Amino acid sequence: MILVECKSIPTSESYFITTPIYYVNDVPHLGHAYTTIVCDTLARFMRLDGREVLFLTGTDEHGQKVEKSANLSGETPLDFTNRVSQRFRELTKKLQISNDDFIRTTEQRHIQASQAIWTALNQSGDIYLGSYSGWYSIRDEAFFSENELIKPKGSSGQLLAPSGAPVEWVEEPSYFFRLSNWQQRLLDFYDKNPSFILPESRRNEVISFVSGGLQDLSVSRTSFQWGITVPGDSNHIMYVWLDALTNYITASGYPDTGSALFEKFWPANIHVVGKDILRFHAVYWPAFLMSAGLEPPQRVFAHGWWTVEGQKMSKSLGNVVEPFELVERFGLDPIRYFLLREVPFGNDGDFSESGLVHRVNSDLSNDLGNLSQRVLSMIFKNCGAALPTPGEFSEDDNTLLAKMGGLLKQVRTAMEQQLCHRALEDIWVLVRAANTYVDHQAPWGLKTSDPERMNTVLYVLAESLRHTGILIQPFMPNSADKLLEQLGVPDDERDFSHLNKSSCLVPGKTISQPEGIFPRILNDTHF
Ligand code: MSP
Repeated sequence: MILVECKSIPTSESYFITTPIYYVNDVPHLGHAYTTIVCDTLARFMRLDGREVLFLTGTDEHGQKVEKSANLSGETPLDFTNRVSQRFRELTKKLQISNDDFIRTTEQRHIQASQAIWTALNQSGDIYLGSYSGWYSIRDEAFFSENELIKPKGSSGQLLAPSGAPVEWVEEPSYFFRLSNWQQRLLDFYDKNPSFILPESRRNEVISFVSGGLQDLSVSRTSFQWGITVPGDSNHIMYVWLDALTNYITASGYPDTGSALFEKFWPANIHVVGKDILRFHAVYWPAFLMSAGLEPPQRVFAHGWWTVEGQKMSKSLGNVVEPFELVERFGLDPIRYFLLREVPFGNDGDFSESGLVHRVNSDLSNDLGNLSQRVLSMIFKNCGAALPTPGEFSEDDNTLLAKMGGLLKQVRTAMEQQLCHRALEDIWVLVRAANTYVDHQAPWGLKTSDPERMNTVLYVLAESLRHTGILIQPFMPNSADKLLEQLGVPDDERDFSHLNKSSCLVPGKTISQPEGIFPRILNDTHF
């Protein structure tokens, strides 16, 4: 029997991937779940592809916004952050996120790392004391110059940040970071590293922002308390973004740059962020790192935003999508599949229940669900519940087998560019080809006329399910497990090195009674 060999990279290369750390001023919503699920999928993919992965997520707990929310709820900032941070930790459990670390910026290891990077910036001559007078948006935790602000027509005169958040005038002593000195070095860095910022359109936006000139950045605050003290000046706390960005190196062991952890995982392979926080990651962060004598990350990918039924998700509109509830209602894997498949990664997307139901029913229940149910039931009934022995392969068989053989390479190429939707599209080309193949070969009619041919067809189909099951593991871990379980694929033969002919299904091996893996979502159950 000749199955097409798909070469897998024999590598234990490291892969460090991060989500943004989430502000604890609010409970988790769909936007947070989205970034975390994308990163989880990439992390799982890389592990199955033989990479050693460090996958980091966590919570951003300092700053004026969090202090204000704690005051409003009548709690101390620490009690408040302990409570809300726990909610984010629970979300990672609910979404079965495979993170290796969960960082909180109130942890001692992080305070130490933040003070160490401050000291390094200071030693390189990039920090000076001055005073800040200008606009600040607490919601964005960001400073804005007058020409960036919006003055809504007919309003009370309240100026707004580009995000729509109100700004307030701030005047206080502040330390500054000499960002203006980094303009050319940043432009050179973008030039030498063309895939540092993805997607391409976002890269162009950042380059044009930096080319327009950079002002020094205020990196400390004195008008409130909730933050990390500036080394050597306890009147100042560090600007929350300098503190927050540092989490990525804290988790890699900074300031111990000689540690095995740091050597293995820094620079990070990728920070996945929303488009609203790209400037912090693609401008300030590499400048801080280079100033501290550290390498910038290899990539920052800025994804788009989800609206809900065409509207911005907001508390005031009452349309905030709550991920715990969503998973309870529809199950985890359908939600993961929808979020990963519906929107080309990088674009904005719209979440609607009808869109979700349509996508799940058509791709999961109809395409993959029917395929697996048909094939496994036929094997169970017609082959004595044992995987059949194939005979000689026909041209049609070889065409389908070749599709399986070439798939990992295609999916890997998509995942190296973080294009989860493209990877799923590629896998579904195989699923649809296998469905067409069943229809053409009509194995149900071969039972009496040509049982040997029926065995070959069902074997080829079972192999297509094995390939599909292995490849969908990062996207839908639970459903993939069920499928591979039903096919009798051993636990230690499920990584991508087994997408080859030497790990093909063993004829004669018994299978269990097949059970539906992707139930249809019935509209009346949910509406
Ligand atoms: N604390 C900062 C990040 C610091 S990273 C060093 C922060 N936190 S956040 O909780 O406000 O946002 C976290 C992420 O959620 C951001 O990447 C943001 O883009 C994302 N989203 C928030 N709302 C979203 C949608 N409606 N859709 C998709 N993602 C969205 O920013």
